[in-house]
Amino acid sequence: MRLGVVLTAASVIAATPVLVLLVFSIAGLLPLQAALAGIFVTLAAAFALALVWARDLEVIFGTLRQELAEMSVDRPAAIPTLPSMRRLKHEAERIARHLSSRVARVEAMRRADEAIVEKLPDPLVVLGADRSVRRSNAAARSAFGADIHAVLRHPDLRAAIDRAFAAATPQTAAILLPVPVPRDVHASVIPIDPPLSDGGRAMIVLSDRTRENAVERMRADFVANASHELRTPLASMIGFVDTLLGPAADDLPAQRRFLGIMAEQGARMNRLIDDLLSLSRIELIEHQPPSERVHLFEVVDVIAAGFEPRLRDRAVTLDLRLDRGLPPVLGDADQLAQVVQNLVDNAVKYGRDGGTVRIDAGRASPGEKFPNRPGALLAVTDQGQGIAREHLPRLTERFYRVDKGRSRNAGGTGLGLAIVKHIVNRHRGQLLIESEVGRGTTITVWLPLAPAPALAAVADSGAAAVA
Ligand SMILES: Nc1ncnc2c1ncn2[C@@H]1O[C@H](COP(=O)(O)OP(=O)(O)OP(=O)(O)O)[C@@H](O)[C@H]1O
Ligand SMILES: [Mg+2]
Repeated sequence: MRLGVVLTAASVIAATPVLVLLVFSIAGLLPLQAALAGIFVTLAAAFALALVWARDLEVIFGTLRQELAEMSVDRPAAIPTLPSMRRLKHEAERIARHLSSRVARVEAMRRADEAIVEKLPDPLVVLGADRSVRRSNAAARSAFGADIHAVLRHPDLRAAIDRAFAAATPQTAAILLPVPVPRDVHASVIPIDPPLSDGGRAMIVLSDRTRENAVERMRADFVANASHELRTPLASMIGFVDTLLGPAADDLPAQRRFLGIMAEQGARMNRLIDDLLSLSRIELIEHQPPSERVHLFEVVDVIAAGFEPRLRDRAVTLDLRLDRGLPPVLGDADQLAQVVQNLVDNAVKYGRDGGTVRIDAGRASPGEKFPNRPGALLAVTDQGQGIAREHLPRLTERFYRVDKGRSRNAGGTGLGLAIVKHIVNRHRGQLLIESEVGRGTTITVWLPLAPAPALAAVADSGAAAVA
């Protein structure tokens, strides 16, 4: 409590009565002693009142300070002496408490807003009026990291930001980011009025459309490719029919030759449609993993037997290295047969005449190339021309062929490996294509082993109990 404050208050209180007493005494209305005694009592009373008043004010200030700073003080709270001051203290406490709870509520709301923005799955950036980044959420940081400034400098996005600020309406931009990997990004710029508490004036929501656009392109390519693949043999058949009806109407040897070619083209179209149907059937059930217990060596035995005539024609030796003690895999026997069929077909088709095609089936040892779970490996190796490195990532795309002419001449549709990939995906397996130009190719499939029967029974009963 400051003495200056007390003295000032006391002099304000005492000034008028002291002045009146002095005037009375000078005018002779009051004896001097009585006037002096009166002045003394007035000054003392004024000082005492000022003291109480100043102390009460201190108490109220202290209370307000505590309430606003949300300090919980254990010592008993001081109480003002004057009743009006007590009421004032009570009122001040109530207002301070109300204010603190509002501040707490606003703070909680701000934190909730920040958490929502932070956890939004789409990358989001908040810009200030000077176009500087005020905030970016976790998705933006993980998708673009330090590149976010490069993204914001993209001319199309900058133009959209300018338009959004000028027109105060949301604007969009489609931008292509070339590095580190090409990405198609769709940006929406939304102006914010009134500004956010951190000065944010516009929000930019970025969504990566690379995958959707690629899927869209693939779908369009697929339709174009499938029509093209069907149109070629169809055009050739129509041409032969015209020739048979016209110039070759009486030429029996030519008719025989043309009919042979037409039969070949018809068979090719048939194969193409079979492959397309089989691919779409696999895709339909790709999300349902198979549940049969299949022995890989049994599947290989059956398929290998079917290849004997072709192997003989091309003097290819089949080297089977099958672990007959290999536990079963969790699979679909027909689809696994299709995998072996397509891989061996490629190995024979693109392998070396008079060479060897090797099929390995055995337990996978834990390694970096394959999952660290119990699995089986099926590998088909040939001694053909091999495949150049740049083609490897695209081999499993539909209709992708390294040597279109050779594949077509060999009756290929370009769908074999795409079917293999989808079957392996459905089996929750992995496909690895390794090749060395001039030496040959090995295509390996990793498949999860079926759980041991006893464990499977326990797991089944457990699942039933839960269900
Ligand atoms: N073992 C291999 N050696 C060399 N090239 C291969 C081998 N396997 C596949 N290829 C290349 O990959 C391409 C795609 O193979 P895929 O099996 O998908 O189609 P395809 O054999 O041409 O036709 P399909 O299998 O439908 O009859 C082939 O055209 C071929 O160029
Ligand atoms: Mg093939």
